[in-house]
Amino acid sequence: MSGRPVRSQPGRAVPVRSRLVTRWSQAAGPGSGDRYQARFDALAAAGTDVHGEAGRCARLVAPGARVLDAGCGTGRVAIELARRGYHVVGVDLDASMLARARRGAPGLTWIESDLAALDLAAHGVGDGFDLVVAAGNVIPLVAGGSEATVVARLAAVLRPGGLLVAGFGLDAAHLPLARAPFGLAEYDAWCAAAGLRLRDRTATWDGAPYAGGGYAVSVHGR
Ligand SMILES: C[S@@+](CC[C@H](N)C(=O)[O-])C[C@H]1O[C@@H](n2cnc3c(N)ncnc32)[C@H](O)[C@@H]1O
Repeated sequence: MSGRPVRSQPGRAVPVRSRLVTRWSQAAGPGSGDRYQARFDALAAAGTDVHGEAGRCARLVAPGARVLDAGCGTGRVAIELARRGYHVVGVDLDASMLARARRGAPGLTWIESDLAALDLAAHGVGDGFDLVVAAGNVIPLVAGGSEATVVARLAAVLRPGGLLVAGFGLDAAHLPLARAPFGLAEYDAWCAAAGLRLRDRTATWDGAPYAGGGYAVSVHGR
C-alpha cells in the first residue's frame, strides 16, 4: 500500500491510504476498476485484439525477462505477459483498478504505489528490470508536475540496456483529457535527464511508422 505512516499515538505508526490526486483519478472517478475492465472484456468478446501492448513488449524482450507494468490498472498487459512466460510486477495507485488485477491473477505481484514515489525494495522486489511498460496513457495521467519524477523513477529500476516503452496520446482525441498536458519534446527531455535515449517511435503498438500524429509509442533505452 502507498500509505505514508502517521503517528496517532506515541510510538505507534498507522498507515494511511494515499489521497494523491492524479489526472487519472480526476478523469475516471472512484471505483473505476470494474468499469475499465468491462470495456476491454466487451472488445475482446467482439473479437478485437486487446493485447497489442503485450505483443509489442514480447517483440522487445524475450520470455523469461523481468517486466514492470507501470500504471498496470486492472492488469490487462501484465497478466497477458505472465501468460506468455514473463516475470511481471504490476504497480498502480488506484485501489479499485488493482483490486481487479488481483482478482484476475492472484499469484502475481501487485503493488499499490504512486509511481513518483516508487520504492520497490520496500515491497520486497528488486530492481534491474529488462523492460518497463507504461501502456494506456499512464504518463499523461499521473499528477500534473510529477511526470519528470515518474520517468526518473521508472528509468532507475531498469538494468543497463533495459527499455522503457510508453504509449500515450498527444491531443484530446487520444486522451481522456481536454488537452494534452505535454508533448514528445518534453517527454524525450525527461527521458534524457533520466539517462534514457530514444530507440524507436511508432504510431501504434503494432509498429506503424510515426508521422507526427496524435498518438505515439516511444521506446527509450538505458
Ligand atoms: C488508462 S489506465 C491504463 C491501465 C493499464 N496500463 C492498461 O493499459 O490497461 C491509467 C492507469 O494509470 C494509473 N496511474 C495514474 N497515475 C499514477 C501514479 N502516479 N502512480 C501509479 N499509477 C498511476 C491509474 O491509476 C490507471 O490505472
